Amino acid sequence: MKILSVTSEVFPYIKTGGLADVTGSLPKALKVFGVDSITLVPGYPVFESLMSAQPPLFRFDEILGEDAALHFVQTPDAALFVLDIPALYRRPGGPYVNEHGVDHPDNWKRFAALSLAGALIANGELPGWSPDLVHTHDWQSALTSVYMRHMGCDKPVVLTIHNIAFQGQYPAALLPYLHLPPSAFSMDCLEYFGDICFLKGGLMTSDLITTVSPTYAREILTPRFGMGLDGVLRYRREDMRGILNGIDEDVWDPAHDPLLPQAFDVDRLDLKANNKRALNARLGLHDDDAPIFSCISRLTWQKGMDMVAYAADYLVFNGGKLVICGKGDPEIEAMLQAMEARHPGRIAVNIGYSEELAHLIHGGSDAIIQPSRFEPCGLTQLYGLRYGAIPVVSRTGGLAETVIDANDAAMNAEVATGFQFHPVTTDGLCHAIRRAMDVYADPAQWRQLQTQAMKARFSWERSAGRYAALFRSLVSRSGATGYEIRLAVG
Ligand code: ADP
Ligand code: GLC
Repeated sequence: MKILSVTSEVFPYIKTGGLADVTGSLPKALKVFGVDSITLVPGYPVFESLMSAQPPLFRFDEILGEDAALHFVQTPDAALFVLDIPALYRRPGGPYVNEHGVDHPDNWKRFAALSLAGALIANGELPGWSPDLVHTHDWQSALTSVYMRHMGCDKPVVLTIHNIAFQGQYPAALLPYLHLPPSAFSMDCLEYFGDICFLKGGLMTSDLITTVSPTYAREILTPRFGMGLDGVLRYRREDMRGILNGIDEDVWDPAHDPLLPQAFDVDRLDLKANNKRALNARLGLHDDDAPIFSCISRLTWQKGMDMVAYAADYLVFNGGKLVICGKGDPEIEAMLQAMEARHPGRIAVNIGYSEELAHLIHGGSDAIIQPSRFEPCGLTQLYGLRYGAIPVVSRTGGLAETVIDANDAAMNAEVATGFQFHPVTTDGLCHAIRRAMDVYADPAQWRQLQTQAMKARFSWERSAGRYAALFRSLVSRSGATGYEIRLAVG
C-alpha cells in the first residue's frame, strides 16, 4: 500500500515538537507492515541544499497563484516530497514564526498551499505515482481532504489530531484566496462560528480521525478538552480512534546514543551517574547526588510550566535540583529564570531549543517532570522511561496511560514506572515530587523503579500495526467515502 503523509514538520529536518518525531518515525515503522509512505513537507530553507542538488521531479501549473515545484528526496530514513514555493517557504524563522518569534502573517496560505499540493498528488496529478490513502496531521495539512473532496477525489483520508488546541482559524473573507468554492463555507465543512477553520474542514471531510492516545480521544469529546470542536467530534465519534504514539528506539537509545557522554542500559545502570556528573558540570550545578528533576518542554500553560516555577522553591528546599530546557511564553520564561537566580547551583534554566542538550538531560536526570494540563500523548515521558529518568506526570491524556503510578500495589507487583498526580495543581505536583524524593531516598527501591521504567516498551511496533490495519480497512472498503454518505443524508 502506498500512502502520502502530509505534514508541516518532520524529524530530523524540521522540528518544533512531538509532531516531527511522529511523522519522522512512523513511516519507518509502517514499512514493516507493507505500507510505503512518502511524506510531503514545505520546502523550508533547511531543504535548500537538497533541492538545489537535483532538478524538480514536477512543476505544478501554479498553487494559490504561486510558482510551485516538487522535489523527491530519498534518504536512508525517509522518502520525502519537498514542495518548493519560494514565495511562501524560503524565509528566515521557523515553520510557524519569523526570526522574531512572530507568526508568519500568511500561515493560512502557506499551509493551504501545502494541503492543495497534497490533494493534487492524491488526485493523480503527478505522473507515475499516486497514493492509495492520504494521512494528514493537525490543522496545517487538514485542508488536504477539503481540496480532495472538491476535486471529486474520494481516496481515503485519515486525519490525526496531535493537538486540538491549534485549529487554523481565519476570517471568512479569505475563502476566495483559498481557491475553494463558496459551498465549502458551510456547517458541513469549513464554517466555524462565522470563521474558516482548517481543522474543522479536515474533521468533516476525512474518512477516519485518529488522535495520539485513547484517553485523549475520549477527553476531546468533552467541552473541557475539545476547545470548541467537541461538538464536531461527537458528531464524528464513530469514526474516531485513539492510537498511542511510539518512539524511535534508534534515536532514543541510551546504549547507543552519540549525544551521551556515557552509554548505559538497564544492566549497566550505575554508569548513568557519569551522565549526571556531566550534566551538573555542563549546567553549572553543584556536583552532588541530589536528585535532578528536569523539564524539556515548550514553556506554556498547556505544559503546566507555570506550576513548575511555583513548585521550584519546594523542590529545592526538599533537597532536589531542577533543570529546564525549553522556550515559549515569555512570562513563564521569566518566572523560571527568577527561580534560577534565587537558587544558583541548584536550578539551571536553559531558554532555547537544543536536541543535544535534551539527550544529555534525559541521560543525566533522575526524574522528568511533565505537569501538563492536557497532553494528547507526550513523548518526553517516554524518552524519560527509556533513559531511567522517572516521569512525574499529571494524570491526563497520553500521560495517564504510559506511566504506571508507584503506589504500594504497583510497587509490590513490580510494575510501577513513575508518579502520577491529579488534580493538576501546584499542590498536586509538589506532592508527587515529595513521593519521588521519598523513593529516591531508598536506593534499592529507586533502582527497582528505574529498571521497570527502562523495561517498559513504547516502540512503534504495536501502534504502527494499528495504523496499518486502519489504512488497509479503508483502502479495501469499496464505494463512497464517509463524506459523500454524510452529504447524502445531510
Ligand atoms: P509537544 O509536541 O506537545 O511539544 P511532546 O512531548 O509530544 O510535546 O514532544 C516534544 C518533543 O520536543 C520531544 O521530542 C522533546 O524532546 C522536544 N523538545 C521540546 N522542547 C525542547 C527543547 N527546548 N529542546 C530540545 N527538544 C525539545
Ligand atoms: C502534540 C501533542 C503531544 C504529542 C505530539 C505528537 O504536539 O501536544 O502530546 O505527543 O503532538 O503526537
